[in-house]
Amino acid sequence: MERRKAVRLAAGGEAFVMESLSPQDTWELGKRLGKEAEPGCVICLDGDLGAGKTVFTQGFAAGLGIREPVNSPTFTILKEYEDGRLPLYHFDVYRIGDISEMDEIGYEDCFYGDGVCLVEWPSRIEKLLPKHYVSVSIEQAPEKGFDYRKITVEER
Ligand SMILES: Nc1ncnc2c1ncn2[C@@H]1O[C@H](COP(=O)(O)OP(=O)(O)OP(=O)(O)O)[C@@H](O)[C@H]1O
Ligand SMILES: [Mg+2]
Repeated sequence: MERRKAVRLAAGGEAFVMESLSPQDTWELGKRLGKEAEPGCVICLDGDLGAGKTVFTQGFAAGLGIREPVNSPTFTILKEYEDGRLPLYHFDVYRIGDISEMDEIGYEDCFYGDGVCLVEWPSRIEKLLPKHYVSVSIEQAPEKGFDYRKITVEER
C-alpha cells in the first residue's frame, strides 16, 4: 500500500504523454518528477540507445537537489547520489551479464529502501522489478526530426 502510494505520486496520479522537442524538454520533465518523487519509488526508463534516458535522469537528479554530476559510466551498473532530498540510485543495466550481479550490488536494499531508483534498460532485469513501478518510455520518431521524443509516463 505504502509503495503503491509512492508510485502514484511520482507519476502524478495518472498516465500522460508528452512530446519533447529538445534535450532540455526531457531534462525539465525529469526535474519535475524529481521534485515530486516520494521515498521508495522505482522508475523504469525504456528507450533505445541515445533515446534520452540519461538526460531524463540528469533532470531528475536536479529535481532532487543533487549537485554532483550524473552520467552513465560504461561499466558501472549502479551509481548512488546522496546529496539530494532523497538518495538516488541510478541503475544502467545495459551491460549486465548474469542477473546474479544484481544481488552482488545489493539491489534489493535500493528497490525496497527509502530512496528513489531510476533504471535504464529495465527489460534486462525484468524478473527483478518490483510489483509496482513507474514506467517512463522514450520513443524516437525519425519522421518528426532528430530531437523529437514521445515520452509516456504511466504506472505499472
Ligand atoms: N528531445 C530529446 N530528449 C533527450 N535527448 C535528446 C533529445 N533530442 C536530442 N537528444 C540527444 O540525444 C542524446 C540522449 O543521450 P542519453 O545518453 O540521454 O541517451 P540514453 O537513452 O541514456 O542512451 P543509452 O541507452 O546509451 O544509455 C543526447 O545526446 C541528447 O542531446
Ligand atoms: Mg544512458
